[in-house]
Amino acid sequence: MRHWKKKADPAGQVDRSRLPRHVAIIMDGNGRWARRRGLPRTAGHKAGAEVFRRIATYCKDLGIEYLTVYAFSTENWKRPPEEVDAIMGLLRQYMLEAIDSMERDQIRLRFLGDMSALSPELQALMERTNDISARIEGFQANVCLNYGGRDEILQAARRCAASGEAWTEENFGNYLYSAGLSDPDLLIRPGGEQRISNFLLWQCAYSEFYFCDTLWPDFTERTLDEAILAYQKRDRRFGGVK
Ligand code: FPP
Repeated sequence: MRHWKKKADPAGQVDRSRLPRHVAIIMDGNGRWARRRGLPRTAGHKAGAEVFRRIATYCKDLGIEYLTVYAFSTENWKRPPEEVDAIMGLLRQYMLEAIDSMERDQIRLRFLGDMSALSPELQALMERTNDISARIEGFQANVCLNYGGRDEILQAARRCAASGEAWTEENFGNYLYSAGLSDPDLLIRPGGEQRISNFLLWQCAYSEFYFCDTLWPDFTERTLDEAILAYQKRDRRFGGVK
């Protein structure tokens, strides 16, 4: 038995036959986590990037198909330049590591958002991770970068209109950054705030929301178990009756 099988879900409470297919996470609370320790905010992002690595592996081991995280929004450019640079640096480091490890770990990577504003180096690294992802099957981690839900809907509307196609939900969905992905079943926001912050506005129409006070750098596999357990108690009706 591989080690992860022992580690994943030790209490055996999560029903693996009813897992959310797609989990989305707003990784909030990095700055507060750092401040409480007397550290610069960037230390919180560094810890947060490490938690993302662990949680992605755990999702894969549980059997979840897609994990989508909010790494940098279209509004995050308003932050101090040194914080923006630190987040971009962490993403660069993550991509460099992923290029070496994703085939071994069987983790596909996809980036959602307007990549044109990112540095040429980051864009080139993304191309390389995309090429590698094309050779991998199974679990996929989606990293939203320079992503905004409104921006996504507007650019999709422009492209759908230019295509001359009928304005159906299906056609329109093909122009979203998330084209081809199933909608998130479970949206988790740690960090104590209860808002959607311009994340996956179209896709979360029927997602189940789970909010918790844990700051993202303190988020563990157990916190994810708790979110999934809460999800498994929900009655999803998608506007119908049962
Ligand atoms: C929100 O917390 C977090 C962000 C805006 C950045 C998230 C980025 C990372 C975790 C690093 C890079 C990611 C990957 C995938 C390698 P906040 O700073 O708003 O926290 P606060 O509300 O406590 O201030």
